[in-house]
Amino acid sequence: MTQKITVIRGDGIGPEIMDATLYVLGRLDVGLEYEFADAGLVALEKHGELLPQATLDSIARNRVALKSPLTTPVGGGFSSINVALRRHFDLYANVRPAHSFPNTRSRFPSGVDLITVRENTEGAYIGEGQTLSEDGETAMLVQKITRKGSERIVRYAFELARRTGRKKVTVVHKANILKTTSGLFLHVAREVAAQYPDIECNEMIVDNTCMQLVMRPEQFDIIVTTNLFGDIISDLCAGLVGGLGLAPGANIGEHAAIFEAVHGTAPDIAGKGIANPCALLLGAAQMLDHIGQPDKAARLRGAIVATLEAKDSLTGDLGGTGTTLGFAEAIASRL
Ligand code: NAI
Ligand code: MG
Repeated sequence: MTQKITVIRGDGIGPEIMDATLYVLGRLDVGLEYEFADAGLVALEKHGELLPQATLDSIARNRVALKSPLTTPVGGGFSSINVALRRHFDLYANVRPAHSFPNTRSRFPSGVDLITVRENTEGAYIGEGQTLSEDGETAMLVQKITRKGSERIVRYAFELARRTGRKKVTVVHKANILKTTSGLFLHVAREVAAQYPDIECNEMIVDNTCMQLVMRPEQFDIIVTTNLFGDIISDLCAGLVGGLGLAPGANIGEHAAIFEAVHGTAPDIAGKGIANPCALLLGAAQMLDHIGQPDKAARLRGAIVATLEAKDSLTGDLGGTGTTLGFAEAIASRL
């Protein structure tokens, strides 16, 4: 039986990298059927809203979506579409692998192979209690950490370690200062870790973690942390291995999962056919793992690495002069 997934082609370079990604998936013969749905600026123009109900219904039905970047108009009271999607489907786990690749402009062409597991629904990003005093002198916001939210994200990280043969989970926190919020997260993380004696667990304070990541990234395997820290750390990790063109992310919930590139719509290069498709392709590889096609995911990643090694058709961000589709064809030829 073919599985149907929702495909959101997105804004800016979105359609270009999605076409390239679907071309490679076609050559990989993954047996997927695509239900196209609109979101972002395209949806605003066509349907008068950034996130149409039909798109939410499609994702709810198919439970898996592959999504290109979306433009959130600046100002005008629009809340981020990505945040809205994560919240709507309770996509609590943001899973961002960072992997050294050959021939990038990275400081670590080898030795980095880690996954940041970021709590995606609470912490500092709940958008509650944001106030500014009338005199404009004092701003406040509320951070919320729950036992339930902490438990499920830490458990996700340990299960991911078991499932993928990884050996170590590092719990990143700031419980020495943020005694209640980060303190609860750490407390719950210790309880969960005790249930996984087969996986090594260590604890690290977030500021030290940033320094350690830059000095010795090879010591990390899986990092699990709260929303704000995970947002910052996962971008740091993307920077370690060569930047946005190679950074994918998955947003996983109990009832749905959305796979994407970490980068945005790249308006400066949109429409020119020169965007790097690898981040979305790597997001598609995460999706193949998720839907039970790990062999195809491994073949896809292997073809990407082989193409980087051969320096064949690389796009401008990687120092080449290739096109989005040319890069995709070079990858497809090595599947
Ligand atoms: P951006 O990631 O779109 O671009 C930053 C820089 O990286 C630009 O120079 C761009 O050309 C380059 N770049 C990004 N992806 C690339 C690729 N695949 N190949 C080659 N070069 C690439 O970030 P920016 O400029 O801050 O945001 C632009 C728009 O994207 C905004 O409207 C923002 O709201 C949206 N955005 C959407 C996201 C999503 O839907 N997941 C995530 C981040 C931003
Ligand atoms: Mg971010």
